[in-house]
Amino acid sequence: MGSPLIVTIDGPAGVGKSTMAKLLARHLSIPYLDTGAMFRSVAWKLGQGSWEWDEARLKEALDGIEYSLSGVGGDSVLSLNGVPIGDEIRTEEVGMWASNVATLPVVRTFLKKAQQDLGARFSLVAEGRDMGTVIFPGAPHKFFLDASVDERAARRFHQLRAMGRPASLAELREQIARRDHQDRNRAVAPLKPADDAVVIDTTEMDKDRVFAALKDGVA
Ligand code: C5P
Repeated sequence: MGSPLIVTIDGPAGVGKSTMAKLLARHLSIPYLDTGAMFRSVAWKLGQGSWEWDEARLKEALDGIEYSLSGVGGDSVLSLNGVPIGDEIRTEEVGMWASNVATLPVVRTFLKKAQQDLGARFSLVAEGRDMGTVIFPGAPHKFFLDASVDERAARRFHQLRAMGRPASLAELREQIARRDHQDRNRAVAPLKPADDAVVIDTTEMDKDRVFAALKDGVA
C-alpha cells in the first residue's frame, strides 16, 4: 500500500469548501476531513469563554478529546470520543467561538497532531484554513477557494433558508466579515493560500464549474 493521498482545500467562511470537499472525496472514494468541525467541536465542548482559560486548564480539557473518522465522500463521519459530531455546532455563534479558540496556540498544536495523525492513516480531502500551509505542506494537490464577502453571505443565506433556518442577510454578512478578519489576521496559522496552491475565485462560478476545476486539478 502506498502512502495516503492528501488533497487540501482552504478558504474563508461560506465559500463552499465543505460542499466541494465532499464531492471531490466521493469522486476519489476517500474520506473528507472537515477541520472546521474540529475547531467548532472543541469550542462547543469546552464552552463559551473557554478561550479565556489559562493554558494548563485548556491542556487538561483537550487531553480528554479524541477524534476518529469513518466512511468516504459525503458519508464521512467525524466523531469526538466516539460520538458523531452533529448539527449543534453549525451556527454562526459557534463559528465565532471556534474562531476564538482557533487563535490559541495550545488548541492549534493539539488539533495539528490530531489532523496529521488522521492524514497518516487515511487518504483525505482535508478542508480548513491552514491545510496547505501548515498541516499538510507536502500535499500534492492544494486548492484555495475564494469569493467576495457579499457572495459568501448570499450563499449561506440560501443554504440556511433551504434548511428552514431563515437568517438576516445583513447580519450574516457582518458575522462572516468579522470571522474572516480574525482568521486572516491571527498570529498563528492565519488564513492564506499556500505558495503552491491553485487559487480559484468562485464569485462568478456555479458549483459545477468549481467542481470541474477541482477534478481537473487532481486528474
Ligand atoms: O470552516 P468553519 O467555518 O467550520 O471553521 C470554523 C472556524 O474554525 C474558522 O472560522 C476558523 O477560525 C477555525 N479554523 C481554523 N483552521 C482550520 C479550520 C477552521 O482556524 N483548519
